[in-house]
Amino acid sequence: MIRAAAPGDVDRLVRLESDCQGVDAWSPQLVSDGVTGALPTIAWLIDEGRDGYAVASYVDDVVELQRIGVDPGLRRSGLGSRLLEAVVDRAEGAARVLLEVREDNAAARAFYAAHDFAEVHRRPRYYRDGATALVLQRDLRDERDGSDDGE
Ligand SMILES: CC(C)(COP(=O)(O)OP(=O)(O)OC[C@H]1O[C@@H](n2cnc3c(N)ncnc32)[C@H](O)[C@@H]1OP(=O)(O)O)[C@@H](O)C(=O)NCCC(=O)NCCS
Repeated sequence: MIRAAAPGDVDRLVRLESDCQGVDAWSPQLVSDGVTGALPTIAWLIDEGRDGYAVASYVDDVVELQRIGVDPGLRRSGLGSRLLEAVVDRAEGAARVLLEVREDNAAARAFYAAHDFAEVHRRPRYYRDGATALVLQRDLRDERDGSDDGE
């Protein structure tokens, strides 16, 4: 079951953040601030039983997926997809989902491509090591319009 993270999840999330994001991992303080609600537009989601999480901000009609991560030993079993859909399900009326991904993160790019994200922008030398960031978007309005077909 995917649910909103609670203060008791902070230690697990700090470990997951480190395992999934490596040198880019957020500090334990930032994780704790997010989970305990100090950052009001940010939602942290966690799977109850399996190690996976997602972080998104919801502002106006834009959802920004800031993090998604699955324990390395559990990947390719659908958990990332369920987390992403949980983020989208909470979007209620949002127009689009945006995110940034490293150009050299082939696994994440394949994952987002499988979930209908398309590149809309590139930010060269965006990361500390000089890597390019790709900005990807998924248009939720198109999906809703499409779901009306045939009715
Ligand atoms: C990106 C990530 C969250 C995907 O999680 P996951 O649980 O493995 O994803 P799923 O099992 O739901 O994969 C769904 C589909 O995405 C695609 N996909 C996912 N990982 C892939 C990979 N390594 N190579 C190719 N395609 C991949 C496939 O189409 C897959 O379907 P399939 O397994 O039936 O072929 C996971 O790889 C991860 O935690 N990576 C490290 C953190 C990260 O880079 N996060 C994104 C940037 S913040």
